[in-house]
Amino acid sequence: MKQGMEHKGRVYLKPSTQPPPLRVAVTGAAGQICYSLLKRIAAGEMFGKETPVILQLLEIPNEKVQKALAGVAMELEDCAFPLLEEVHCTSQPEEAFKDAEWCLLVGSKPRGPGMERADLLKDNGHIFVTQGRAIDAVAAENCRIVVVGNPCNTNCMIAAAQARRLPPERFTAMVRLDQNRAASQLAKKACVPVDVIEQLAIFGNHSPSQFPDFSNATIFGIPVPEVIEDVAWLEETFIETVRKRGADIIAARGVSSALSAANAIIDHVKSLCTPGKTIHSMAVRSSGEYGFGEGLWAGMPVRTTAPGTYEIVTNFHHDAFAKSKLLITQEELESEREMVKDFISLN
Ligand code: NAD
Ligand code: LMR
Repeated sequence: MKQGMEHKGRVYLKPSTQPPPLRVAVTGAAGQICYSLLKRIAAGEMFGKETPVILQLLEIPNEKVQKALAGVAMELEDCAFPLLEEVHCTSQPEEAFKDAEWCLLVGSKPRGPGMERADLLKDNGHIFVTQGRAIDAVAAENCRIVVVGNPCNTNCMIAAAQARRLPPERFTAMVRLDQNRAASQLAKKACVPVDVIEQLAIFGNHSPSQFPDFSNATIFGIPVPEVIEDVAWLEETFIETVRKRGADIIAARGVSSALSAANAIIDHVKSLCTPGKTIHSMAVRSSGEYGFGEGLWAGMPVRTTAPGTYEIVTNFHHDAFAKSKLLITQEELESEREMVKDFISLN
């Protein structure tokens, strides 16, 4: 089919009138999250059905892993996605991040049964030093970075600390999986569809110390505590279920969440690309909001103001119970910062 022709109602545009492809770098591309993620990016579920993409896939320089990555690339090709212009596989961060407008940092070690995410800091922290530097050196001027690899808040802080060119607010970490988990639990308890739950924020760390804030959330615009009057369920069962969901999935599957994690990455980026009144949760750099130490990356409610740009929503009210929960997660983030202070001061 020649460019510019019409076929079955679809116009095949001349190259000059096509939107330029978006370069999306994804790390850990041969891993289990990416196996659920890449096909959805290529199908237009992240950046829309009009935006062609080039996938720049990074994996470790290990023969077996690179071979597996080549297999993933073959499968993507075999899907014949109209929006997928190119797949580039590499073990070199500078190649993977070159001119990338989005860098999705998934690649890192997941925890196993009995571990906490913070146990991964020693293994994973250095990855974000190398990658933060490479992104700052070669990524596109308007680049946005999303950190998924655990412990994602602190890894994001490490990556951002390496940057001199890109401002820290471009670096966000993912607590959207916690938000989605919390929304599902509330919807199930209240017997309502999940999409009538709004203003649901995850505060703090993507860890068992997080505070899934039911008190500011609404169901059909009504505060959750007025709809779900079971205070013990909200303050204990709900919070614990959300906090421990990652561990429960590891206990059940033997490996950590992947399908739901990939879905949350899609939601995180889509929300960040879609300006509007809707509040969503991301871990972003604190300037002292809600008592989080300045320079920590903490889950907070945000509103997207322009594609890729957001403001922190600062008017959530917290009672004594909520404040006591916030304190626990503030302290944990501070202790993680202390553990990685050498990585942060490297630059
Ligand atoms: P996985 O082990 O299946 O895949 C990880 C991949 O990353 C592997 O293929 C590995 O070779 C690759 N990798 C390791 N170091 C790398 C580097 N320096 N550069 C590029 N690639 C590298 O793990 P997974 O299940 O896909 O999980 C990936 C990470 O995401 C883990 O740290 C996990 O804990 C985290 N995670 C976060 C959330 C969240 O909500 N924030 C949710 C689920 C999983
Ligand atoms: C999750 O929340 O499912 C992930 O962070 C994986 C984990 O280690 O729990």
